[in-house]
Amino acid sequence: MNNKNSSTRPPTPTEPKALLAQSWDLIQCGVQQRKHSYHAVYMSYIANNTPRSATLVPRHLDRQHFTLNCHTDIRSGKIKHLRKNNQVCLLFWCREHKTQLRLNGTVTIQHDNTFTQAIWESLRPMSRVCYAADIAPSTETTTSNSGFTTAQWENRQTLCNSSDAYQHFAVLQVHIEMIERLDLCVTGHQKIRFKKLTSPESQTTWIHQWLAP
Ligand SMILES: Cc1cc2nc3c(=O)[nH]c(=O)nc-3n(C[C@H](O)[C@H](O)[C@H](O)COP(=O)(O)O)c2cc1C
Repeated sequence: MNNKNSSTRPPTPTEPKALLAQSWDLIQCGVQQRKHSYHAVYMSYIANNTPRSATLVPRHLDRQHFTLNCHTDIRSGKIKHLRKNNQVCLLFWCREHKTQLRLNGTVTIQHDNTFTQAIWESLRPMSRVCYAADIAPSTETTTSNSGFTTAQWENRQTLCNSSDAYQHFAVLQVHIEMIERLDLCVTGHQKIRFKKLTSPESQTTWIHQWLAP
């Protein structure tokens, strides 16, 4: 595979272990860098037997436990659907690296517990504001609205630190089970799948399978 079709592109490894390690690095870049393509991830899930997707911001990657966290509002429509079926697919696409990552896993909804409390404490007020909205996400309304009634909007800087705002805050903790990586290249694409295997002693290994792109 030719790695020279983009000046900013890091070399694409050809060895599975290095490919997996670089995939985690790319996701980590998405968590840390606001301008990185991977700072947005598309999460697909099943809603009333129909596929549905939402753009989310990846907030934390745990490379020991292979979990990726996103923040959301417990009142949002996806919560109801994820409670019925917690299987998700996450899709990343980086235009610069020409790399697509497709992750499959299951979601744990973390809400009003020590886990969410610790994260909430670390959030800056501007990150808390959306949880102070008094009109729940996806509520049907007769007019265009921001999710805030006028009084609520005017008091948002105070209300974002309220217990009500905290009660709306939830973390979608995705337990990653599979990664499919596709690298595009003018001289030939490359695709590989990694599956997580956990031994009875709770040792995790990732097995790979090359695929035709
Ligand atoms: C760039 C972008 C980033 C977003 N990030 C988040 C996010 O991190 N968490 C979230 O709940 N919604 C986020 N959204 C909005 C969701 O895609 C979705 O519209 C919203 O959560 C309402 O979900 P619902 O349909 O389940 O009610 C984002 C949207 C865009 C366009």
